[in-house]
Amino acid sequence: MDPAEAEQNPEEKEYSAVCVGKEADIKKSGRMTAVVHDREVVIFYHRGEYHAMDIRCYHSGGPLHLGEIEDFDGRPCIVCPWHKFKITLATGEGLYQSVNPRDPSSKPKWCSKGIKQRIHTVTVEKGHIYVTLSKEPFKCDSDFYATGQYKVIQSSS
Ligand code: FES
Repeated sequence: MDPAEAEQNPEEKEYSAVCVGKEADIKKSGRMTAVVHDREVVIFYHRGEYHAMDIRCYHSGGPLHLGEIEDFDGRPCIVCPWHKFKITLATGEGLYQSVNPRDPSSKPKWCSKGIKQRIHTVTVEKGHIYVTLSKEPFKCDSDFYATGQYKVIQSSS
């Protein structure tokens, strides 16, 4: 396969787990950033769980590592600092509020736009954090900012 083509199609690459730091450090800071196989990711430690996702927001490439974590509909989300889009930490779904137009007095409901941000796998071994990039065979909106011309970190090869 053409390497450029593989870069645009993450599901077609074989990725190994990459050590991104120490468990003790992320437990103190709550988050860290890393480059995993030339892809920028952010790793969050929230309520005893680890979550990794593409660092640039699926909407317009905002820096998710600078966002706040808040609960929406009982689901922890990163709130993008640029336009306040909400992304679930566990699944990468974009959440939005919807009002029934036939009943404007009803309470707005939280709804999902589906998976928009690519989520990666975090494992812990002997006090170190490892990230394995997602190979899920679907196009994710955040891929646009993680690959090609929007990718900030250039390959060293
Ligand atoms: Fe994240 Fe617009 S870039 S909400």
